[in-house]
Amino acid sequence: MYFKIFIMLFVSILFWHCEKNITTQCEVQPTIKPTLSSIQTEVFNGYCVSCHSGAAASGNLDLSPASAYSNLVNVPSSASSLMRVLPGNSDQSYLIKRLIGADGELIMPPAGRLPQNFIEAVQQWIDEGAKNN
Ligand code: HEC
Repeated sequence: MYFKIFIMLFVSILFWHCEKNITTQCEVQPTIKPTLSSIQTEVFNGYCVSCHSGAAASGNLDLSPASAYSNLVNVPSSASSLMRVLPGNSDQSYLIKRLIGADGELIMPPAGRLPQNFIEAVQQWIDEGAKNN
């Protein structure tokens, strides 16, 4: 009797262990650095330029590679009194409000929230001075 219970326990621990390993392998997130060039490649090019580029850019915000920096840093947002990106202060940057869907505004991208590590990379880039790096 005790032996049976022991075997069952052993088998379930074995299964639990394997399952845990599979999940951690599957949860590998895409890597991103807190620099403008990495954010440009991973975030803006992949999730934003389809709407935010060219003369007819949505919200008058062009996020294509040649324009993103000059359209964001120290530029007043057209929808609020905040700067789109206020260097050193991600909390007061309208770009972050839109990425996290704060203040009831439409979240960006509208199809659904970015992976958390992408949002954190943008926050860190801003908090470290929003350099053209
Ligand atoms: C499907 C189209 C679409 C996509 C994709 C999209 N946006 Fe937008 N975005 C809009 C529209 C339309 C507006 C203007 C209306 C509004 O403010 O909601 C806007 C407005 C904004 C604004 C406010 C601009 C201002 O100064 O008022 C920001 C910031 C923004 N988007 C950032 C992003 C970012 C960053 C991405 C990618 C992660 C993104 N958007 C992806 C359609 C899109």
